Amino acid sequence: MARSLPAPRWAMLLSLVLLIGCMVAPSLAVKHKDFKTCEQSGFCKRNRAFADNASTQGSLWSSPYELDPASIHFKDGILAGDIVKTTATNEKVQLPLTVSFLESGAARIVVDEEKRLRGDIEMRHGSSANKKRYDETEKWVIVGGLEVSKSATLDAQSETGFTNILYGPDGKFRAIVRHAPFGIEFQRDGQTHVQLNHQGLLNVEHWRPKVDRKDDESAEDESTWWEETFGGNTDSKPRGPESVALDVTFPGYSHVFGIPEHADSLSLKETRGGSGNHEDPYRLYNSDVFEYELQSPMTLYGAIPLMQAHRKNSTVGIFWLNAAETWIDIVKSTVSPNPLSLGAHSKTDTKTHWISESGRIDLFVFLGPSPNDISKTYGELTGYTQLPQQFAIGYHQCRWNYVTDEDVKEVNAKFDKYQIPYDVIWLDLEYTDDRKYFTWDPLTFPDPKGMQQKLDETERKLVVLIDPHIKNADKYFVSEELRSKNLAVLNKDGEIYDGWCWPGSSNWVDCFNPAAHAWWATLHKFDKFKGSLQNLFIWNDMNEPSVFNGPDMTMPKDNLHYGNWEHRDVHNVNGLTLLNATYKAMLERKKGEVRRPFILTRSYYAGAQRVSAMWTGDNQATWDHLGATLPMVLTNGIAGFPFAGADVGGFFHNPDKELLSRWYQTGIWYPFFRAHAHIDTRRREPYLISEPHRSYIAQAIRLRYQLLPAWYTAFHEASVNGTPIVRPQYYMFPEDEQGFAIDDQLYLASTGLLVKPVVQENTYSADVYISDDEKYYDYFDFTVYQGAGKRHTVPAPEEKVPILIQGGHIIPRKDRPRRSSGLMRWDPYTLVITLNKNSEAEGTLYVDDGETFDYERGAYIHRRFNYRGSVLSSEDIGVKGPKTAEYLKTMAGVTVERVVLVDPPAEWKAKKTVTVIEDGAKVASTASLEYYEQEAGKASYVVVKKPSVGIGKTWRIEF
Ligand SMILES: *[C@@H]1O[C@H](CO)[C@@H](O)[C@H](O)[C@H]1NC(C)=O
Ligand SMILES: *[C@@H]1O[C@H](CO)[C@@H](O)[C@H](O)[C@H]1NC(C)=O
Ligand SMILES: *[C@@H]1O[C@H](CO)[C@@H](O)[C@H](O)[C@H]1NC(C)=O
Repeated sequence: MARSLPAPRWAMLLSLVLLIGCMVAPSLAVKHKDFKTCEQSGFCKRNRAFADNASTQGSLWSSPYELDPASIHFKDGILAGDIVKTTATNEKVQLPLTVSFLESGAARIVVDEEKRLRGDIEMRHGSSANKKRYDETEKWVIVGGLEVSKSATLDAQSETGFTNILYGPDGKFRAIVRHAPFGIEFQRDGQTHVQLNHQGLLNVEHWRPKVDRKDDESAEDESTWWEETFGGNTDSKPRGPESVALDVTFPGYSHVFGIPEHADSLSLKETRGGSGNHEDPYRLYNSDVFEYELQSPMTLYGAIPLMQAHRKNSTVGIFWLNAAETWIDIVKSTVSPNPLSLGAHSKTDTKTHWISESGRIDLFVFLGPSPNDISKTYGELTGYTQLPQQFAIGYHQCRWNYVTDEDVKEVNAKFDKYQIPYDVIWLDLEYTDDRKYFTWDPLTFPDPKGMQQKLDETERKLVVLIDPHIKNADKYFVSEELRSKNLAVLNKDGEIYDGWCWPGSSNWVDCFNPAAHAWWATLHKFDKFKGSLQNLFIWNDMNEPSVFNGPDMTMPKDNLHYGNWEHRDVHNVNGLTLLNATYKAMLERKKGEVRRPFILTRSYYAGAQRVSAMWTGDNQATWDHLGATLPMVLTNGIAGFPFAGADVGGFFHNPDKELLSRWYQTGIWYPFFRAHAHIDTRRREPYLISEPHRSYIAQAIRLRYQLLPAWYTAFHEASVNGTPIVRPQYYMFPEDEQGFAIDDQLYLASTGLLVKPVVQENTYSADVYISDDEKYYDYFDFTVYQGAGKRHTVPAPEEKVPILIQGGHIIPRKDRPRRSSGLMRWDPYTLVITLNKNSEAEGTLYVDDGETFDYERGAYIHRRFNYRGSVLSSEDIGVKGPKTAEYLKTMAGVTVERVVLVDPPAEWKAKKTVTVIEDGAKVASTASLEYYEQEAGKASYVVVKKPSVGIGKTWRIEF
């Protein structure tokens, strides 16, 4: 939940208390005036003007940055040197450069400013802010992958004026460093894929003293250098202008993806105007955007500055490691050898321009060549998705608010009465005593323990909201400790910063401070957070941070954090520091805690995937918003943060029954699957919906539960190699150009499940695009679809979400409906097999206790199922550890109860049994097989009943 109240400030402050709880649905539009455009953001405007100047001058333009050849040295995989910037007044500015060639094949380029590294600058207004350019983003973000390549070598063949380095797998990558003007071209197999400063837009606004001049004296427009006012707040900018910018060109690439979070298409649009394009760059400045609009480059709550560029058979990417406000312009230019025909031989270049307000230039270049390679290498740097507890991928029931502990228990009972599974119920803001976190409202939640115990009877969990703003109140122990221990964010004058948020006057815990982490951990302990039990988990909301009376709905940029870093320098990583603290706190709730934390976050940065799940914030109950969730969730996945979802049903307003059931049918495909609703909406728990829609929703949720084994396996895959859990078309078929822009259908990891949810009203069929010429089978009735490179119409009556299974897969399921995922732990499996053109199939299954970290010590089952030559076999692909045997013992009774094989050979009609051979069994046994013939157009299938082979065992079934 979150809703920031729109300006004007005075009215807001006066009416805050009155408004809570009786807010009528306000206008449907985002308040544009609350958020800066590039034009209103000095550094963005300056860098755009710089780019315009360069493009106006065309070939006459020369970037004023040169790499001093005498300064270049290359040692142990690192190229270092000094870039010299020559100013209009012929001043020389030293900018130290390092280019590190990493073992992973990535290259890292860092540019800093010599004078500021030395602390040789004067601050204005007596500010105590740090003089350096912020260089600690990596401390929060990077967890590995920085080993420098031992095999990177200087290429002796370099022409004069260039320094070339060979690196990467088999030395197939080459960085061509141009000295004057400075620039780098990255090649793979002799072809250029990424160019830095090719357009000459490199810009490091160096430190300079403020000189009082008469208006007409200065050649440059200094109006946004020293002060900027927005939303009634004046930014004092003690270090003056300090932005960094660089252009990155992807020659021959016509699609770029990534850089969440925006409510936009998967394939990013151009941003310099023109029909169908945006007028503003994509903005990354984590903000609480009230009633955000769709198809927009406006910033949202989170930021991951990872971009993938894609063309036929090649994916490359960059990661811009900077936590300050960032804008990204995208322009595509198509050149054709024959100007009259933009035909087959035309080539599109995508030109991007990255602009950050402060900090260093610090970027990683990835040369692919596949989308998987980018996921893997980026994940080595920022960490892979956490393997969540099993419950976390079940269904989450939330609203603002369940109003009493009795209310929670009643909702819990109703789910059981209507036989709808769910795992987690959530409490928004109002459970607290007067918006003081770590307390319970004594009137409405007198018995939190009893409530949690009730939930625990069916292995269900509770998640409660804990935000980083702490009510500024006497006799509130959290507030008193925050202040007395000096752990709060400070204003520019070094006093505790006070702003407005849900509790009214609030202070913010400064999680850049290690001491704040230690303190935050104490608050989560069972004796401090009284009334909390082990099945309680945490929701960190409003951590952009949202400040109702601040500029851009957040803190002033000249606020100070631990280390005297200005908020400007660290803003986008701020939310992640809270998650990091909460994660640690959850692990320390009690001595010997062995369970994996669960945290939901609204704000995020690269690296948040290690500790949290995210959702797309305050959406609306409209069809357009439903449709927008697909590209948003897919984008998060390719940006390395796949544990993503959107509020099912839409946060604001009331969905009608059709929209709500379609939303559930879509939501079961979000890795994070939670229903949520605004306080002013009508209750819409699934059991309240009248038939037939109640059944449609219940069926959808049960389908999610049926496929939990496949989901959990997909999460495991993400946790070891960074692949998205739900994947877009281009990711699965990188060679099929027709699929590159498709963002309304998705694949569940590598299971072969292809889904196209219906996101339009009154629509009862879906056109599913198929890339290859395998057969695809309808999930429910095995209708066959085949034909590469075209769309196939799949019926989608209101009760049905269109799902196809590609030929060649083995999908693990659990078919017995239960109240929660915890109660399914010992249930048997069903395996569904579809054959590819060679009559073969493959699939994997990962299982562990779904709760602890014991899997790190071998307590898991990891199997590969193969079907080949009419034999289905299960092979161990796990690595044994000290806890393997003990875990396998607990799973000894869990078996396969059914095998469904779709489209078997016709001669199987006569077959009545199969032979089952389990490792270690003295004799082979048999299981019965039944053949189900279907009408033309639908594949026949066979069902093997009770082969009863152990899920953790090695076995074969001979058909
Ligand atoms: C454009 O660039 C040239 C240098 O190439 C510079 O002299 C001029 O001042 C710039 N114009 C603007 C408006 O920035
Ligand atoms: C792209 O990859 C496919 C499949 O690997 C291959 O058949 C094809 O020749 C490649 N095309 C190009 C242009 O490299
Ligand atoms: C939390 O941040 C610290 C650095 O401040 C880092 O060492 C640690 O790995 C982070 N924890 C997680 C779980 O990401």
